[in-house]
Amino acid sequence: MDALGYGFEDIELATLHERAVPSRVLGFRLGRLAAHRALRQLGRDDGPILSGTAREPLWPPGIAGSISHAGTNAVALVAPSDHTDGVGIDIEERRPAPELAEQVPRSEEWDWIQASPRERHDELVLALFSAKESIFKAFYPRVERFFGFEAASLVPAPGGFRARLVSDLDSEYPAGRHFHVGCRWRGDLVLSWLILPQSEVTGPTA
Ligand SMILES: CC(C)(COP(=O)(O)OP(=O)(O)OC[C@H]1O[C@@H](n2cnc3c(N)ncnc32)[C@H](O)[C@@H]1OP(=O)(O)O)[C@@H](O)C(=O)NCCC(=O)NCCS
Repeated sequence: MDALGYGFEDIELATLHERAVPSRVLGFRLGRLAAHRALRQLGRDDGPILSGTAREPLWPPGIAGSISHAGTNAVALVAPSDHTDGVGIDIEERRPAPELAEQVPRSEEWDWIQASPRERHDELVLALFSAKESIFKAFYPRVERFFGFEAASLVPAPGGFRARLVSDLDSEYPAGRHFHVGCRWRGDLVLSWLILPQSEVTGPTA
C-alpha cells in the first residue's frame, strides 16, 4: 500500500538499493512526493518516476523536471519540454561546508566572495554551490555526461546569479552563453533554480 497516496510509491521505492539508509529513503520519498504534486498541476501525474543510470529522474514524455531534497525538505520543478530547454532545482541546508569552499568557486568567483564581509562567505559559497547543482540538473538530460563546478562562472545578480558557461556543453550551449539562475535564502535553506528558455527552433530552409 502506497503510504503517501500517489499510487506509484511502491514501484519507485523498489528501485532504491535494498540497503539504502533511512535518510536516503526519506529524501527519495519526499522528492518523489513533491514531483508527483508538481506533475499533477500539469495534469501529467500518470506513472512512476523512475531513475536513469546517472540517478536522473525519468519524466513522462514531453516533461522537463528536477528534484532536490535536504533533510526533511524536498522540492520539484516541472515544465512542458516545448517551453524550456531544461529545468534544474536545488535546496541546501545552511551548514559549515569547508570542502565546498575548496571545490566549488572558480578564481574569479572568489573575487566577489572575498569582497563581501567575512561572515557571509559560508552562505555565499553554499548559494554558489546550490546554483551550480541546479545548472547541472538542468543540463544533464541534454548532455548526458558529468561536468564539474568549473564549467560555469557565476556573479551575483538581482534575484540570484548571472551564469556564463566556461565550457561548451553542446552546440546550443557553447562557452560564453549566459543565463540567469534564481537563488534565495528562506531561513536556513537556500533554494536555487534554473529554467532555460527554449532555444529558437529553426526549420529547414527551402
Ligand atoms: C547529481 C547531483 C547534482 C545531486 O545533487 P545532491 O546535492 O547530491 O542532491 P539533491 O537532493 O539536491 O538532488 C538529488 C536529486 O537530484 C536528481 N539527480 C541526481 N542525478 C541527476 C542527474 N545526473 N541529472 C539530473 N538530476 C539528477 C535526483 O532526482 C536526485 O534525487 P533522487 O535520487 O532521490 O531522485 C550532485 O550529486 C552532483 O553530482 N554534482 C556535481 C556536478 C555539478 O554540480 N556540476 C556543476 C556544474 S556548473
